[in-house]
Amino acid sequence: MTLEKSIDFGTPAVGSPDTVTLTIDGHTITVPEGTSVMRAARKAGLTVPSLCATDCIKSFGSCRLCLVEIDGRRGTPSSCTTPAEEGMTIHTQTDRLAKLRRGVMELYISDHPLDCLTCAANGDCELQDMAGVTGLREVRYGYEGANHLADTPDTSNPYFQYDPSKCIVCSRCVRACDEVQGTLALTIEGRGFESRVKTGTEDFFTSECVSCGACVDACPTATLMEKTVIDEGMPERTVKTTCAYCGVGCSLKAEIKGDQVIRMVPDKDGKANHGHACVKGRFAWGYATHDDRILSPMVRDSIDDPWRKVSWDEALDTAAARLQATQKKYGRTSIGGITSSRCTNEEVWLVQKLVRATFGNNNVDTCARVCHSPTGYGLAQTYGTSAGTQDFDSIEECDLILLIGSNPTDAHPVFGSKMKQRLRQGAKLIVIDPRQIDLVRTPHVEAEYHLPLKPGTNVPVINAIAHTIVEEGLADEAFINERCDLAAFQEWTAFIKRKENSPESVAEESGLDSEMIRSAARLYASAPNAAIYYGLGVTEHSQGSTMVMGMANLAMLTGNIGRPGVGVNPMRGQNNVQGSCDMGSFPHELPGYRPVSNDEVRATFEQDWGTPMDGVPGQRIPNMLDNAVLGTFKGIYIQGEDIAQSDPNTHHVEAALRNMDCVIVQDLFLNETARFAHIFLPGTSFLEKDGTFINAERRINRVRPVMKPKTGKAEWRVTAELSDRMGYPMHYTAASEIMDEIARLTPTFAGVSFDRLDKEGSMQWPVNDDAPFGTPVMHIGEFVRGKGLFKLTEYVPTEERTNRKFPLILTTGRILSQYNVGAQTRRTENIKWMEQDLLEIHPSDAELRGIRSGDWVSVASRKGETVLQADVTDRVNPGVVYTTFHHPESGTNVITTELSDWATQCPEYKVTAVQVTPSNHRSEWQETYLRTRDEMRRIEVEAGE
Ligand code: SF4
Ligand code: SF4
Ligand code: SF4
Ligand code: FES
Repeated sequence: MTLEKSIDFGTPAVGSPDTVTLTIDGHTITVPEGTSVMRAARKAGLTVPSLCATDCIKSFGSCRLCLVEIDGRRGTPSSCTTPAEEGMTIHTQTDRLAKLRRGVMELYISDHPLDCLTCAANGDCELQDMAGVTGLREVRYGYEGANHLADTPDTSNPYFQYDPSKCIVCSRCVRACDEVQGTLALTIEGRGFESRVKTGTEDFFTSECVSCGACVDACPTATLMEKTVIDEGMPERTVKTTCAYCGVGCSLKAEIKGDQVIRMVPDKDGKANHGHACVKGRFAWGYATHDDRILSPMVRDSIDDPWRKVSWDEALDTAAARLQATQKKYGRTSIGGITSSRCTNEEVWLVQKLVRATFGNNNVDTCARVCHSPTGYGLAQTYGTSAGTQDFDSIEECDLILLIGSNPTDAHPVFGSKMKQRLRQGAKLIVIDPRQIDLVRTPHVEAEYHLPLKPGTNVPVINAIAHTIVEEGLADEAFINERCDLAAFQEWTAFIKRKENSPESVAEESGLDSEMIRSAARLYASAPNAAIYYGLGVTEHSQGSTMVMGMANLAMLTGNIGRPGVGVNPMRGQNNVQGSCDMGSFPHELPGYRPVSNDEVRATFEQDWGTPMDGVPGQRIPNMLDNAVLGTFKGIYIQGEDIAQSDPNTHHVEAALRNMDCVIVQDLFLNETARFAHIFLPGTSFLEKDGTFINAERRINRVRPVMKPKTGKAEWRVTAELSDRMGYPMHYTAASEIMDEIARLTPTFAGVSFDRLDKEGSMQWPVNDDAPFGTPVMHIGEFVRGKGLFKLTEYVPTEERTNRKFPLILTTGRILSQYNVGAQTRRTENIKWMEQDLLEIHPSDAELRGIRSGDWVSVASRKGETVLQADVTDRVNPGVVYTTFHHPESGTNVITTELSDWATQCPEYKVTAVQVTPSNHRSEWQETYLRTRDEMRRIEVEAGE
């Protein structure tokens, strides 16, 4: 249910090109063939009563409220299950129908609590509406017969409850869980009067339910209802905004009372999510008002001093003075900034502008450095632009999904559900992943092939797939001849044909069966439309950029680029990774991926900004940290990032931060990096922001303020005012003016403005004269760079090798309920699904070491040691262990190495050689961490007061 109703057409749209024309209540209407009579009627603006139908799921025909009469036909068929036919004449309102409908309603109401006035759904209940619509005035059966009024509610889910006494057994919830979410957690058990909605276990919390809320949205009564609505009452107004978690970028409707969010409902008009959401976006927004939030600026002279709460003026004066003093002492390039993929484009734009125009250097980098920087590099090299090629809806035309190093049902759940829908319609799936992710086998979905390769061997496997396609004559020569650089293709063909790239040669290194590699290659090459989807399992390797180019080569080789249903699609981790890269957060690139060394491009910025700019590329995050340890990089402004937790080799990061004279952290919470900060500037949550995010499909989505900044200052203003104090005034009066500047200076955004986004909805860049309404699919007809460029993808194995001392490979990932370093999700009820990070280990490796599930184990690498609880599972292969990094005390990055992608320095998080042994004590790092954290918490409480 939702406050702001959009029209519910009762049954889903039908895509048929053929149409039929019929008459309903005297209105003539033409609809696509296969459309239900109910949808046709509602399209004509007519109301047909209904309870069990809603347009996000297929019709079921159980409530018998939508009956109609059709001339020439006997009986009263249900309009939701009857297809419209050419020439039909239909009546939806007759005395006979009215009587029948009242009879149906009488039955429902005789087994329903008569507590409308005190019910949480009062005013937002379809049963109540239908009682009114059908003119129900009495219930002849009385209320004394057998009923379910005493059934007990299930309150086990932290976010919603199930009250069976109000259930009308319409099965909308069951069908939503099946068709929208694809989890199949619910069934209707029993028959007739006995039928009830059931989970597979005794309650929702312990069941397969992933808490997406699709059933709650679909329920027409108060049976499935958000606890916040039950506790706080119905919301009063709606603000449309965008989820601030993953790169799917779901559109949400924040429903508010006063300035309190009562519930978050997925927006049916959202072009990325079409009315679906996941447990994070739908429910986990409570962190925004969590007591741990720091709302006042704070300063301290040394990191050993206690924090002192100060006014914004004093904090910004101190920050400006300290940065200027650092530059004066150590030079112009001794300071820099880090932008955040959690912040809006407008906030990111100002931080990179601060570095370039105010600091006078290019020392700006972003957290994409540690996740998708190889995507930017690899796709730019081969296709000419640093972004995914398709929109999400493209998958509806895909016949084969090649999923590499990505776990969409956990990390990108709404797109994961869409993927499941397509797979259930018959598309085939190949999974390349060291771990058995859910999509390998889940209800009604089974991958054709799962290639559980050894971590670190993506490149030989993609080369072997390409080798097979070339060797077996499966390449799309017509596409290559027309669209690709032929000289580069010839050179690449000679390379890929080499024996070392054959499946037989790479089988041992990758741990895969060569015949399976060949079969997967044939399947990919023979599909009419094959699409590659990939994640951090591709990029976070020392050969991340090589692998991205390997996938781009593969798509060109088979002609799978430049139309719907195909492409190379990076699944972006954070909400605005794409945007933070687009906004010029890289030290060598100005916004729009244009080199800082290009005099012509720089001149346009210099003219607009009225200041000279440095044409020399700046330092990346790893360089800043290395130089900080060396003592030449001394000051940093970090907006919305927690490098002390998220970056590899924690000891090194901590040493670097400790060695700086001025560390400024801007964040919601006193994060791990704040332990080393001198100035803390409180940040704002997405509920307080005015701006835009860009999702994984290049979609520019509006983020609208639901409440005023709790800190008293919009985050972009903080950056602007810091710049003012450092001598470069930034004159903006609203965030929309920053977007105007972005559009003015970035050709791919030329047609973007808040006004257009508000009027026309989200748009996918490029939005310019050539594509005034945006670009859902790129590289149609021609690549952005002209001809597609095959790049050689020589396999250079990582230096991180196993040996007798470190015989296992540790790889990492995420789980559904948590998000990245967990700063947000750990401060919500989502914590109930995951209280700590676990180490997955195969039964044979566990047995060898005497380890059982639940035992504490030491995980030691060449870099450090941490202690985790073991989860013995055959999801991972022998020789591979796996963990998540959502809890700082796990210290996952204490053990990861400083090895990184050769082209972009993206850290090699996915491959660390480790030994695992039973342990009965915490690691030294964990002891120190927990001691300082307790101290931090004490300060946090004081500061938050
Ligand atoms: S819980 Fe709601 S949606 Fe599910 S069967 Fe009952 S009334 Fe229908
Ligand atoms: S919350 Fe989602 S997963 Fe859980 S039962 Fe409802 S629809 Fe299914
Ligand atoms: S799928 Fe991603 S963007 Fe959508 S609601 Fe979930 S976390 Fe938010
Ligand atoms: S709405 Fe058609 S039978 Fe229920």
